This record gives sequence, structure tokens and C-alpha cells, in this order.
Amino acid sequence: MRVVKTVREMQALSETLRKEKRIGFVPTMGYLHEGHLALVRKAREISDIVVVSIFVNPMQFGPAEDLSRYPRDFERDAQLLETEKTDIIFFPEAGDVYPEGYSTQVEVKGLEDYLCGKTRTGHFVGVATVVNKLFNIVKPHYAVFGQKDYQQLKIIEKMVRDLNMDLEVVPYPTIREAGGLAMSSRNTYLSPEEREKALLIYASMKKAEELFVRGERNASIIREEVRKVLSLKEGINIEYISISHADTLKELEEIPGKALLAIACRVGKTRLIDNTTLMEA
Ligand code: PAF
Repeated sequence: MRVVKTVREMQALSETLRKEKRIGFVPTMGYLHEGHLALVRKAREISDIVVVSIFVNPMQFGPAEDLSRYPRDFERDAQLLETEKTDIIFFPEAGDVYPEGYSTQVEVKGLEDYLCGKTRTGHFVGVATVVNKLFNIVKPHYAVFGQKDYQQLKIIEKMVRDLNMDLEVVPYPTIREAGGLAMSSRNTYLSPEEREKALLIYASMKKAEELFVRGERNASIIREEVRKVLSLKEGINIEYISISHADTLKELEEIPGKALLAIACRVGKTRLIDNTTLMEA
């Protein structure tokens, strides 16, 4: 496994590799968990060379967000990636990715107006910009993204389509802990009691799925039932419960054959998101 620390070296290496090999790419911010490793395994399955980037992207954090305390442990990440037979870790410095005078941003208009985009101003511009840069540096044939960050996935898919980027975005299902909590690097912030409360997120989505299977198509009714489950314990601060069109992310009142149920809430100080697709069999 090779660790590449500069943009210039990564770009030169990818240029050579891409001529003969299929490059699979997993962009991450590090502090890896089983969810990331599943993405790496998927990349391994479909490509010859697997590149994983570890870069905590300052551009996607708001001023009041957790950039400085975002968990980091490169040695641990490198060991995990070695076990997964990763070929290359791209681990650049922020000053190399955004050098003095850097001023370009990528905005995928429309999709960022919903869900997390409503409160995390500028977040998806930061994500689209860094992912665009990483694609230009790593030059992958495949880029694997988890469905847990559903809105991010949709924005990246649209950016790739709109800008005719020469790669395929490969979505991968959410990996969950026992009890259903979606894996996230931010779960490390949760105390044992908060972790217990956070299980209600999964329970509320199961309730919604159950209602949907029984024929409920009124989004307000399902949202309300989700809210009730999330309120079973004190300390869950709901940011949104959204039932939206799975592609446009526009809020729905009547659910047609398929919809996205997405939830964002704070458990203590930790912001958690999750989602599921409500779909007719
Ligand atoms: O999902 C993440 O970890 C980040 O948003 C990403 C895609 C690595 C961009 O910084």
C-alpha cells in the first residue's frame, strides 16, 4: 500500500495507472468504520486499483460546525485500509488542496435547497468542490459513495452528469451497527446513553416502512408517526423529518410508488442523519 501526500504525485500516478487499469475510488474524511470499509470492498470488487482519500475538507464545514474536533487517526485508518488491500491512500494537506489564492467553487443548484442544505449553508458547495477536485486528481473510473449521505450522493451524481465527467458513481447501501444505528464517524461523539436514544432513529424509520407497507400514502401521517417514535425519549432534537421525491428531493404530500424518508436530528450535541426508501414491492 502506498501513501501519497501531494496532489502533484497523485495526479501523475493516476495518469499512468489509468492507461491500463480500472481505478476505483472511495473519498473519505478518515476515522474509518465498517461503513467505509464496505465501500472499499465494493471498489475492490469492481476495479484493479483502489484509491482511498483521507481529507477533512474545511470547505464543507460551517463556522459553528465541528471541523477542529472532527475525529482523526491516520495510523488506525492506514492499518484498516491495509487489511482491505487498498492500493493507494491519498492523504493531502489542506494547503495543497486549497493553495493560497484558491477561489473556485462548484455549485449543483436545486438539490441543495432541501434537507440538510436548508441549515448547512454552503456545505454541499464544499462537498461538490472537493469531490470535483478529487476526481480531477485521482481520475477514477468508479467512485463509490454510501447511501447514508443520500443528498450528497444525489448531488455528486448530478454533478457528474451535468459536467460530463468520465466516471461512474456507484451507490452503496448504509451499513448499520447492531440495533440499527447508521455507521458514522460522528457516532464516536455519542455517550452510551445517547447511543441508546439514537436507536430511535432506526425504530422510527421501521415504523414508517410498516405504515407504508400497510398502505398509508399520506406523508403527513407518516411524518407524525415518525415524530412520535423519536419523541419516546427526551433529548432528541429533531431538525427535519422529510418525505420527498427520491430524485428531486422535493417534499411530498401524497406518496406515489416510491419516496425518500430522511431524518436529521441532534442527540445531545451530535447531529445525526439517516434515511430509507419507501417503495412498493
Ligand atoms: O462523505 C464524506 O465523507 C465527505 O463528504 C466526502 C465525500 C469525502 C467529501 O469531503
